[in-house]
Formats: sequence, C-alpha cells, structure tokens
Amino acid sequence: MEQPEVLITRDQIRERVAELAAQLREDYRDKNPVLVGVLKGSFIFMSDIVRALDIPLGVDFISVSSYGREMESSGEIELLQDLKTTVKGRDVLVIEDIVDTGICLNFVLHTLHQKKPASVKVCTLLDKPSSRKNPVKIDYTGFTIPDKFVVGYGLDFDEQYRYLPDVCFLDTESQS
Ligand code: IMP
Ligand code: MG
Repeated sequence: MEQPEVLITRDQIRERVAELAAQLREDYRDKNPVLVGVLKGSFIFMSDIVRALDIPLGVDFISVSSYGREMESSGEIELLQDLKTTVKGRDVLVIEDIVDTGICLNFVLHTLHQKKPASVKVCTLLDKPSSRKNPVKIDYTGFTIPDKFVVGYGLDFDEQYRYLPDVCFLDTESQS
C-alpha cells in the first residue's frame, strides 16, 4: 500500500494541541467541563487534548453513523451511541476530528442541546470550510485545510490509516 503524503506533521500537531489546550485551560479552568468526543475519528486528538489540558473534567463519547467506504457524506446521519453522562447544567466541549459538510456536527449539536447543558462549544482538529453545506459555529480550530480527503492521527478511510502519526492526504484515485 502506498504511503500517503504528509499534510500536517506530528510536531505541528503537538505544538497546536499545546496552544489549544492553553486557551481551553483559561476558558474551562473552574468549570469541570464534560469533553464529548465524536467517535471514532477524534479519539487520538481527544486523548492528547485531555492530557494537555490538565484540569478537572469529565469525558464521554457520542457515536454517529460515518461515511463507511464513501468519501462524501450521504447527508443521512443516525445516532449509534449516546452519552452515558448526564450533561444537564454542565459545560460541554465537543471534540471533533474534522468538520467537512457540517452535517455530522449539526446533528451532534442538536442531540446535545436537547439535554439542556449550561453551554456547548466545539473544538475541532481540522476544518474544511470550503465544503460546508450546513453552517456551524466552531469555537476552537486546530488547522484549516483545503478540500481534500485526509487520514491519520485518528482519521480513517474505510477503517485504515488511523494509526499514522501525521495527518496525510489520501490519493483518492488509488483507492477506488
Ligand atoms: P461532515 O458531516 O461532512 O462535516 O463530516 C464529518 C465526519 O466525516 C468527520 O467527523 C469525519 O469522521 C468524516 N470525514 C470528513 N472528512 C474527512 C476526511 O477528509 N478524512 C476522514 N474523515 C473525514
Ligand atoms: Mg468524526
């Protein structure tokens, strides 16, 4: 299998995670927030953010249907796994791997707002603003990237490549 081309190196990620964590620490220091990771792509980013944050917090996960073998969102999303934590009255920080069309994040935010949290903010590692279909407010962004399919650092294509330490472009031609 061909090695994909690196877009964001592990060092750049480490540096940016530290910057984001410094900002989040200021904003959430005394709030005991609940960090909600959107499975599965956010799991590595989530674990790095949690460790870098170094403040009291809770963690939970939510899972929504993914693209599978597709590289574009079908637009139809369903909830696969809901939170186990009661977030009513709590400050929730959603941790996403990437916001592309915004359909997935909109669905997640809608689901969370029904639980009446005190606040909901969004932190995403990657943002692809040029492919947005559903406008969505992002509060903390790691990197803004062009409209290309990426893998690594938790992000997959058909469950492959999550283990790559860097964020890489996937040559979409060679995958079909
Ligand atoms: P959206 O609903 O189109 O914003 O897509 C959100 C989800 O699709 C992300 O959380 C990822 O799981 C997946 N996704 C979108 N773009 C990419 C990509 O370039 N690589 C890997 N997964 C992606
Ligand atoms: Mg995701």
